[in-house]
Amino acid sequence: MSIIIKSDRGIEAMRKAGRIAAGARSLARQMIEPGITTAAINKEIFRFIKASGAEPTFLGYAGYPASACISINDQVIHGIPGKRRIQEGDIVSIDVGATWGGYVGDCAGTFPCGQCSDDALRLIKITRDSFWQAMTVAREGNRVSDISAAVQKYAEENGCSVVRDYVGHGVGQKMHEDPEVPNFVSKVHGSPRLCKGMTIAVEPMINAGGYEVKVLPDGWTVLTEDGSLSAHYENTILITDGEPEILTYADDI
Ligand code: MF3
Ligand code: CO
Repeated sequence: MSIIIKSDRGIEAMRKAGRIAAGARSLARQMIEPGITTAAINKEIFRFIKASGAEPTFLGYAGYPASACISINDQVIHGIPGKRRIQEGDIVSIDVGATWGGYVGDCAGTFPCGQCSDDALRLIKITRDSFWQAMTVAREGNRVSDISAAVQKYAEENGCSVVRDYVGHGVGQKMHEDPEVPNFVSKVHGSPRLCKGMTIAVEPMINAGGYEVKVLPDGWTVLTEDGSLSAHYENTILITDGEPEILTYADDI
C-alpha cells in the first residue's frame, strides 16, 4: 500500500478537476425530471466536462461506456446511462468524474425526481448526513477507520445499512489510489493514519434494507439484493491539519 501525498501544484489541479466534476453533478441534478432519459443526462455531462477543458474520467475506464453512472431506486452504483426514462418518484444517483491537468475529481449524489416518498427522502438525507458526520473526524492524526465508523454508526443508528462490497478510495492522478476508505469497520486490517496532503473520495453507499448487493449481467449495474432503495453521496476531499477541504465543491453540495 502506498498513499500519495499531493504537492501544492497537484492540489491546485485537484481543486480545478473537483469543481468541474461538482459542476457536472449540479447540472445533472437540475436536468432530473419525469420523462428524461439517463442517456440525455449523460450527454450533457460529457459536453459540460469537455467544455470545461477536462476529460470525463469514467469514459473508457475498465471499458465503462459513459461519462457518468446514473443509478435509479434499487440500483446502488454504476448504472449505465441509456434509454430508461426517469419517472416521478424515482431517486436518481449521479456519479461523475473529471480529469483536469492530470488529476481527478470524483463525486456523486442522489436526488429526487418530483414528489418522492418520505422514506426515499429520508434515505437521501441520511446518506448525505453520514458523509458530513465523517467530515467531523476527517483530519490529520485520525485513522481512515474513524471515517468508516462515523458513516456506519450514523447510517445504522438511523435504521439503514452500509454497502460492504464497494468502498471509497484515495484519488489523485489516478481515480483509484490507496487507501481504501470503507464505510464500515472491520477488525481485519490496521487502518492507515490520515495525513495532511492526502486526497480521498469519501462515498457512503446506503441501503434502506439489507447491505447485500448483486451485479446485473451487464457487468456494471449494482442493485440491492432485497430490492430496497439505495442512495450514494460522494466528495473528493483534502486532508489538512484542520477541517477537511471539499475539492468537489459547488454551491449546492
Ligand atoms: N465514483 C466511482 C468510483 O469511485 C465511479 C467509477 S465508475 C467507472 O469508482 F465506470 F468509472 F468505473
Ligand atoms: Co469514487
